[in-house]
Amino acid sequence: MSEYKIGQSIDDVREASGDINIYKMSSNENPFGPSPKAIGAITEQLSQLHFYPQRDDSKITQALADHFGRGLSAANFTTGNGAVDLINLLEAAMFVEGEANNIIICPPCFGSYAATAKLKGATVIEHPLDPETFAIDSAGLASSVTENTRLVYICNPNNPTGSYFDQRALQQILDSLPEHVTLVYDEVYYHFATQFSLPDAIQSVLDKRNIVILHSFSKAYGLAGLRTGYAIASAAIIAQLQKHKLTFQNDSVSMAAMPAALADKQFLTQVIDNNTQQRSWIISKFDDLGIQYWPSQANFICFKAPNGSSAKQLVERLLSYGVMVRAAFYLPNHVRVSVGQADANRQFILAMGEIINNTSGDNT
Ligand SMILES: Cc1ncc(COP(=O)(O)O)c(C=O)c1O
Repeated sequence: MSEYKIGQSIDDVREASGDINIYKMSSNENPFGPSPKAIGAITEQLSQLHFYPQRDDSKITQALADHFGRGLSAANFTTGNGAVDLINLLEAAMFVEGEANNIIICPPCFGSYAATAKLKGATVIEHPLDPETFAIDSAGLASSVTENTRLVYICNPNNPTGSYFDQRALQQILDSLPEHVTLVYDEVYYHFATQFSLPDAIQSVLDKRNIVILHSFSKAYGLAGLRTGYAIASAAIIAQLQKHKLTFQNDSVSMAAMPAALADKQFLTQVIDNNTQQRSWIISKFDDLGIQYWPSQANFICFKAPNGSSAKQLVERLLSYGVMVRAAFYLPNHVRVSVGQADANRQFILAMGEIINNTSGDNT
């Protein structure tokens, strides 16, 4: 299994390919740009940048509690500089000083879980998804736990496979984990699961289970460059996390943007509707072209590079059509394409059709 590498930027590609029209479908970003309401709030905040921000994030955690309702309070939330920052915070809070620490991941999965844990000297135990279906082993996951396991990471819908699981699987995992282990339930793509009922993880928080839900403003709200995300957990777990946060950890621009983005329902609907329709369109074209893919409830689809080519070869071939996609990390022949707006998706499918024709009979 290959190591996780950060995706390329448009500038990297322009430098290599010249000034062609580039469709960036490689990092699961929002094809509509940032939430306009967030941009408005950010712009207003700019003239206040000479002031320090609020010392903590209590205004935002209250806005999040109001947004979700269900009896959650501000004490059930903490914010960070993206979900990645919260992963780092969780590991800082849960690892035990002077003892061996390990985390469990279910590859293929998001690379930061392992990367940040390794930086802290922790061991990473892999409990892979099913190699054919990418289903999570909800019945067997706990068998990888040791007395030094602090965190188990699961992701739903999962990056890079797009695969997903239901309430029964989450319940089974939660019930099987021993007390000393915290389950990290990464749900940064939850908005896009429009054709499947994801588990009610918030109920597990309300039931004071040992679970931390991760959400992000990078995806559905289009604020990946701003670095904003939040965790939802029991007040006791949140208090533990807060102890490891810096004073002024959250900048005033992010704190202005978050509630504005949450209130931008029109933008969210546009983004989600486009994703649902266009995801189905890409899949129907994959069927026409005979491309093997995995059902996805995210804003991307994982598929197998056709005609026996490697993921790396296909990524390079698509680049010559101005389409940036990403080799699905850990998997040598699988590629992940982010769902774009119709023009980007059409260009991607056109390129795939031509590549398939040009490489048929080719086993390279
Ligand atoms: C599964 C998963 N979790 C977390 C993140 C990081 O989110 P953020 O941008 O909020 O740090 C990503 C980013 O792509 C992701 O795919």
